[in-house]
Amino acid sequence: MRRVALLGATGSIGRQAIEIVDAHPELELCAVASGSSSLDGVEAPFKQVGGDLTRLLDEAEPDVVLNAVVGFAGIHATIWALERGVDLALANKESLVAAGELAVAAGAHGGGRMLPVDSEHSAIYQCLEGRSVEQVHSLVLTASGGPFRGRTRDELRDVTPEQALAHPTWHMGSKITIDSATLANKGLELIEAHFLFGIPYEQVEVVVQPTSIVHSLVRFRDGAVLAHLGYPDMRVPISYALTYPTRAATPLAPLDLASLTLEFHAPDLETFPMLALAREAGEKGGTYPCAYNAANEVAVAAFLEGRLAFLDIAEVVADALGRVDGSPARDVDELVEADAASRALADERLAVA
Ligand SMILES: NC(=O)c1ccc[n+]([C@@H]2O[C@H](COP(=O)([O-])OP(=O)(O)OC[C@H]3O[C@@H](n4cnc5c(N)ncnc54)[C@H](OP(=O)(O)O)[C@@H]3O)[C@@H](O)[C@H]2O)c1
Repeated sequence: MRRVALLGATGSIGRQAIEIVDAHPELELCAVASGSSSLDGVEAPFKQVGGDLTRLLDEAEPDVVLNAVVGFAGIHATIWALERGVDLALANKESLVAAGELAVAAGAHGGGRMLPVDSEHSAIYQCLEGRSVEQVHSLVLTASGGPFRGRTRDELRDVTPEQALAHPTWHMGSKITIDSATLANKGLELIEAHFLFGIPYEQVEVVVQPTSIVHSLVRFRDGAVLAHLGYPDMRVPISYALTYPTRAATPLAPLDLASLTLEFHAPDLETFPMLALAREAGEKGGTYPCAYNAANEVAVAAFLEGRLAFLDIAEVVADALGRVDGSPARDVDELVEADAASRALADERLAVA
């Protein structure tokens, strides 16, 4: 029996995770948490709405933490699992992007293992299957391109949150859906891949694959390229992470290969500057990735509330990155300060936007 603590149980990933747990008698929910929504109807010995997630984890003593909280709010739970040698099924990419070296060090010291839930990273994890990064030429993250693929900047000036929320292939929470429309999601995933797989940024490529059938690829040094294919359905990577390494059955239909045509395109970095900004922040290191994430969270919230234009999301983030200190954080408290500093700069910029 694996005792699962599900953080973010009321969200898109959280609801699908409950479906997976319900279908597998070897999994049981020992704890569930949400930010403010009611957890009525979800059965678990420990439940918590809001508050300190590490207190809940201390009480519940899980075997695996599925961190499906959205945003920087998931940071303490990520570090908690890594430090204690508890498996971390990681959907909350923002925490790894922000914590970076601190999270990797916590895992190396405490023994916590990261099992990616992001479909791209799950795909790469499976293609790598424990092979050393020395054998790898590069990792290739696939992107759907979002709802605005192929548009010009002029065509993006007046897009509304409703248009940006209409993702062509994935049904997800609102924050990640906007991140997919700006390509910030792929930017966060680039940084996530760097820390998850311990690979330099220049060895992580991004390619657009509009139907989201190829979840990602690994190029090896001998010229072979392994790809992971499947319908875009998050139950697969969630199930993989929760039942690792047994790869339990899911109710998905087999992939109909004869109906597929696979196209790949280079991403449009000029129309969607959030991807290049992420690469820049990742390469600078220190708390630049944390600042990127924090300013993006502020800008996305403002866009969703109708207080910021779509194209200005990248402006707010670029402005914050240009003004933050960016020096490395020695502990999580310093990381929380770096996050707050970037949010304050983003708020300042919003006031004049
Ligand atoms: N959805 C996907 O298909 C997908 C795919 C790959 C990766 N991810 C990643 O998975 C994470 C969750 O995404 P999502 O789409 O599931 O988001 P979502 O639908 O917006 O759900 C977010 C969840 O986090 C909870 N939450 C927010 N703040 C919290 C806090 N302070 N303490 C405890 N819980 C808190 C929310 O609770 P309330 O309901 O109370 O607000 C909700 O349960 C994100 O990091 C996202 O990037 C998602």
